[in-house]
Amino acid sequence: MSVIVLIGTQWGDEGKGKITDYLAKRADLVVRYQGGNNAGHTVVVGDEEFKLHLIPSGILYPEKICIIGNGVVVDPAELIQELDSLSDRGVNTGILYISDRAHVVMPYHRLLDSLEERRRGNNKIGTTNRGIGPAYKDKTARTGIRMADLLDPPRFAAVLKENLNEKNEIFDRIYGVKGFEFEEVYEEYRGYGRRLEKLVQDTSVFINESIANEDNVLFEGAQGTLLDIDYGTYPYVTSSHPVAGGACLGSGVGPTKIDKVIGVCKAYTTRVGEGPFPTEDTGKFGEQLREKGREFGTTTGRPRRCGWLDAVVLNHAARINGLDFLAITKLDVMSGLKTIKICTSYLHNSGEIRHFPANIGVLGECEPVYEELPGWQEDITNIKDFNDLPLAAQKYLARISELSGVPVALIGVGTKRDQIIVCKPHGEFY
Ligand code: GDP
Ligand code: IMO
Ligand code: MG
Repeated sequence: MSVIVLIGTQWGDEGKGKITDYLAKRADLVVRYQGGNNAGHTVVVGDEEFKLHLIPSGILYPEKICIIGNGVVVDPAELIQELDSLSDRGVNTGILYISDRAHVVMPYHRLLDSLEERRRGNNKIGTTNRGIGPAYKDKTARTGIRMADLLDPPRFAAVLKENLNEKNEIFDRIYGVKGFEFEEVYEEYRGYGRRLEKLVQDTSVFINESIANEDNVLFEGAQGTLLDIDYGTYPYVTSSHPVAGGACLGSGVGPTKIDKVIGVCKAYTTRVGEGPFPTEDTGKFGEQLREKGREFGTTTGRPRRCGWLDAVVLNHAARINGLDFLAITKLDVMSGLKTIKICTSYLHNSGEIRHFPANIGVLGECEPVYEELPGWQEDITNIKDFNDLPLAAQKYLARISELSGVPVALIGVGTKRDQIIVCKPHGEFY
């Protein structure tokens, strides 16, 4: 048995959905521990593409148990819609449970998200507009509504009233927009509560029992290390902890139970939303990556910003997450380049920077220092064995491993389930 945490090492969209799907084959339990439906995880099964937002990517295996942990913020309307759309597509889904401690995304969170963004003007974060930041804000302000509250009508009525008193005053006085009627929100959300009631439980008890039974457990991170509220490019981050430590907090499992941490890393870098991105290429090459890698947001459809791989970012992720292994995705997108660059440090007027800086002002003034490696021309999308990869591709992977100090265990060479190279023995986890 093994307990694995899978996280994104960059700014999200590294291909966590695909790697989760690969690992989920041998997992008994797949657990989301943070974020909400700001995430968009793509899994391709046969010719069908699934985009999962709140439901763990293990759901496409009928026998798997999927859990939405306490660290997730749940928009019940979106969750129900996601469940219904899977069943409409005739998918025989696995079993899903939701933590009674998970916070609920309310309609006023979604409205606040867009109003706050508008108010930020040029300093906007470029959020997904799903109410994620405002929901986490209420959680830490101790005014949030949890799944357990949603299932307790008198308590739900009381906390909703308190919240609407405060929020409606904000809508009226600060933003000059109409707020929400208690009755309407109450009825709508009680309906969601009734629908989801059977799925809600103390998931920490369930997961820990599962670990005690020696089941294989997989924690599926959303977003990425550079979007972490503490370790990312603050304030251009999300409001949760995508890093490996977040798996413990967001699921009620102690750190002694975690066996391995796997970091998913795209063979280049992308970012969606605002904020610094040292290796961003705003020219032709960035455009080429976006087209070839189909780099458009899974949740919002926005074009992703693209650039070369950044080993400063990867080292930061290796340290913060204590990475055991890397899963390198989208290596196939790099085929056809004459040379490939990797950023190894930043040049700043204060000197060379090797550790990802906290001050985004400094980060904005950094020039990436690149080393250049030979590229390869071959199509690698059908390759199943590491040794069959072009030598230049093998060398690129070896260099990523050397710079980060983390061995490569899995390599993605296409969107499909079988387009993955398993580097034995590292790639066999369960
Ligand atoms: P996530 O949020 O980390 O799960 O990533 P997304 O699903 O948002 O974005 C990753 C995109 O890349 C999706 O469209 C995947 O189908 C696709 N993808 C994942 N792995 C590979 C790969 O190895 N090669 C190619 N070409 N596409 C991949
Ligand atoms: P997955 O799990 C990429 C980005 C948004 C914005 C910032 C804050 O698919 O990798 P939020 O709505 O969370 O308050 O937005 O974070 N962001 C993501 N970028 N992938 C994601 O998820 C993201 N989730 C949020 O674009 O810059
Ligand atoms: Mg995504």
